[in-house]
Amino acid sequence: MDEDGYKLWLRYITSGDAARTYGRIVRQLRVDGPSATCGIIRDELRTATTAMLGRAVSLNENGLQAGAVIVGTAGNSSLIRDLNWTADLLATGDEGFIIRSATIAKHPVTVIASNHDIGALYGAFHFLRLMQTGQPIDRLGIAERPALQLRLMNHWDNPNGSIERGYAGRSMWDWNALPEKLSQRYADYARACASIGINGAVINNVNADVRMLASESLRKIAALADVWRPYGVRMYLSANFSAPVQLGRLATADPLDRSVMNWWKAKADEIYGLIPDFGGFLVKANSEGQPGPKTYGRTHAEGANVLADALAPHRGNVMWRAFVYDEDIDPDRAKRAYIEFTRLDGQFRPNVAVQVKNGPVDFQPREPFHPLFGAMKQTPVIAEIQATQEYLGQAKHLVYLGTMWEEFLNSDTHAKDSGSTVAKVLAGKVHPSRITGMVSVTNPGLDTNWCGHHFSQSNWYAFGRLAWNPEMSAETIADEWTRMTFSNDDKTVAVIRDVMIGSRETFVNYTMPLGLHHLIGGDHYAPMPWNDRAPRADWTATYYHQASAEGIGFDRTRRGGRAVEQYFPPVCDMFDDLKRCPEKYLLWFHRCAWDYRMKSGKTLWDELCAKYQQGAEQAAALQKTWQSLDGKIDARRHREVADRLALQVADAAKWRDQILEFFGRLSKRPVPRSS
Ligand code: GCU
Repeated sequence: MDEDGYKLWLRYITSGDAARTYGRIVRQLRVDGPSATCGIIRDELRTATTAMLGRAVSLNENGLQAGAVIVGTAGNSSLIRDLNWTADLLATGDEGFIIRSATIAKHPVTVIASNHDIGALYGAFHFLRLMQTGQPIDRLGIAERPALQLRLMNHWDNPNGSIERGYAGRSMWDWNALPEKLSQRYADYARACASIGINGAVINNVNADVRMLASESLRKIAALADVWRPYGVRMYLSANFSAPVQLGRLATADPLDRSVMNWWKAKADEIYGLIPDFGGFLVKANSEGQPGPKTYGRTHAEGANVLADALAPHRGNVMWRAFVYDEDIDPDRAKRAYIEFTRLDGQFRPNVAVQVKNGPVDFQPREPFHPLFGAMKQTPVIAEIQATQEYLGQAKHLVYLGTMWEEFLNSDTHAKDSGSTVAKVLAGKVHPSRITGMVSVTNPGLDTNWCGHHFSQSNWYAFGRLAWNPEMSAETIADEWTRMTFSNDDKTVAVIRDVMIGSRETFVNYTMPLGLHHLIGGDHYAPMPWNDRAPRADWTATYYHQASAEGIGFDRTRRGGRAVEQYFPPVCDMFDDLKRCPEKYLLWFHRCAWDYRMKSGKTLWDELCAKYQQGAEQAAALQKTWQSLDGKIDARRHREVADRLALQVADAAKWRDQILEFFGRLSKRPVPRSS
């Protein structure tokens, strides 16, 4: 049967064999509790089990029979209370859960228990995932608790319905129809988020339109927040720092001005009057033309604190972005945020977190981790990753980002001894942190399949899973996503999983291998290594690759721009040392002659050519592999992916040819003939 992708990973299809086994274990659903969330759990379990078992399972709140699935909290369910799991439940925190096979009144049952309804919802989705992925459910002993507190979608949606760096149709939020008309998509979206533990969303672009904070907009936003609430998805907003001037008609937005402080306090009070569980503000300040505290001679900390003070009585947070790169700080864009923010460590209010992109430049296909991770001892740092594939083929190329994020999260910062991975820093295990979190600049829009490319859904999914557990493997995530989204047939799963696992490296190879970055122009899609004209030098490609007749690469070593010094030892020494710097980061940190000898024995030029060749070949191979799945998955999605792969293969060849032609002219070396 044809599928359009709307159901995402919640298709609830299992094989007949699994259905028979599960059917013996799941015979009754019992969700105790009056809340809307409990209603959602009931609906979800009922729909899912009916679909997967091929018969309706009884939903019975009174009796108890063998094969009951009991879901709830100790507060609402006497059955769960009587189990006396108090200490174990305590360990699962506000959002975690326990799933155990147990015996109650001699009946074998499955219990999904938590401290709050939302944990029960997460537990229910976890249980359903086990069934969707064909895993045993008869002897369960699971306890889960999210490693990070804030697991947020960051939408870059504008009030006019456009989306900055959105590739999947227009914005899902219909501001004209809100608050009266509530699209079904709002609940479907929140459900998808909840299914992977995402607990909030910033609804608007960081280049924030000030009108989002106007009273009229807030009423619309509140209606949306009401839909999301039972799914545990909290509302957050990007705030424009000059709102007191633009909206409040004050003479200044200086954060130390009393009238400005009062304006933000009144605005926060107004928001909480409408949205009692509002999460807080995300702010892009003094970056790429956005207003900010520096406009008034104040620091980022002073700017963040005025908002933090307004939110604090309501327990809201400020997420202050470290995506700043003022030219007067340092000649190297990659160094600027670290310099500005480390200076301010300790000056932020307790309810401020600094939100840092995974790498020091800007969501490039490959960057080393941002040196701010691990460097702030007294300030919570949360990570910002990007599921919308701005620099990674947008919604046209098949690129699974789980592997990229795994590489990032597993990077050892050495902030405190070895093993201080980014994942551990984020979880507050390196420096204790009041706020922990990871957010994703995200991809769904109004396209039927939500994300444009069917495989881009996997990036939404992988983000949610990693935000819950940043130490999960990208392969496990790819495996479960594939089983839920495409097929449970082991052979098919293996093929798709391998395609996914290799896809990011393939993309790096045909676009920006060996540490190259920013070889693009304004659309961030097509190759443009010759791009030397932009409103700022650090928006050009030539600023980054610095290719000339002598060589190529950005010297960030101790003998050059010294960016390596922003990393802890021994990481800085490793990056600094030409021989020890991983070659995947070579031209990020080093400037090398064209005939520099690589580990393979090839010259740099030959290696570069080989990488581009390899990338284009890998893209072609990917297309072939996909063709082999014809008939293994539904025809429509197969065809739609195939159509995009054709484009990807052509683009990969274009990248190879244009980049090598350009660098070949500078290096004065012949480009090997492409196969
Ligand atoms: C990138 C992106 C912009 C975005 C910015 C940001 O530069 O191209 O569209 O506004 O990041 O993260 O703020």
